[in-house]
Amino acid sequence: MNAKVFVTRGVFEQAIRFLADHVEVEGNATDRILLPGELHSGARDADGVLSLLTDRIDAAFFDACPRVRVVSNFAVGFNNIDIDAANRRRVLVTNTPGVLTETTADFAWCLLLAAARRVVEGDRFTREGRFTAWGPKLFLGHDVFGKTLGIIGMGRIGQAVARRAAGFGMTVIFHDTQPVPETVTRELGARAVSLGDLCRRSDFISVHVPLLPETHHLLDGAAFQAMKPTAILVNTSRGPVVDERALAHALESDQIAGAGLDVYEREPAIEPALLESDKIVLAPHIASASHETRLRMCMMAAGNLVAGLRGERPPNLVNVDLWQARQG
Ligand code: GLV
Repeated sequence: MNAKVFVTRGVFEQAIRFLADHVEVEGNATDRILLPGELHSGARDADGVLSLLTDRIDAAFFDACPRVRVVSNFAVGFNNIDIDAANRRRVLVTNTPGVLTETTADFAWCLLLAAARRVVEGDRFTREGRFTAWGPKLFLGHDVFGKTLGIIGMGRIGQAVARRAAGFGMTVIFHDTQPVPETVTRELGARAVSLGDLCRRSDFISVHVPLLPETHHLLDGAAFQAMKPTAILVNTSRGPVVDERALAHALESDQIAGAGLDVYEREPAIEPALLESDKIVLAPHIASASHETRLRMCMMAAGNLVAGLRGERPPNLVNVDLWQARQG
């Protein structure tokens, strides 16, 4: 195939080899995030782009790179891409769903358990040489077994998080604006509730919604006020779903007991009050970062890109309507 792709950042060698078997490959092989101008000039002659969630693919990008026909995002989330602008230019956009579901669910549980049982604080204390004796009240945390888990967003990842709760004998409630099949809720023993009820009743809340205008600051000051003072919040979805200032205030004022975050509102910047708090476990956006899963995501992104450039419908197409309009 006579096509050129631009890979925006250093990714897995296997994926580059796969791409090179089909197309001409150019790009940034380092881990540095390209500035918008560098991205635009790098992809100027490309027919397709393998992008990361750290790249802003917007109208200015499409103006600068008029040949681009396919943007393949190496992520399940695609809030870094302006889909309306892609549709206007008739550019196919793809993502990497499914392959990261279990890995991300595992990590939501890592944060939940670490926050509940104060693992990170305990590690810090031990390394600092402050562990001098077993203590009856040393680092008391919160039990997880038998408690209520509230899941916001019961898609693939939310369901995988719920499935793991069975091993902890938990009650699972969830909130989703999309209908969830009854076969799924029955299998998981999960009950649908309103967002308000979920906030009031949950001991642990795990967030799994995409970032959309409707989900921006879904968890705000009012939501934290409704939560139990013993509640622990986990967010592995997208940062702006949680109002970080309101969360910092909720932790400071004991409205809730703790949190585990993998994503941030102004990533990679973090609300300074959260950095100061011992009640929160902070991770650098690594929920899908296992060796196996990141490689699978990368190969999937490469496969989507080649399929789209060949004129085939990519297996993980985001803007399906565009494809249908093109066929019609
Ligand atoms: C990671 O955050 C992803 O969207 O894949």
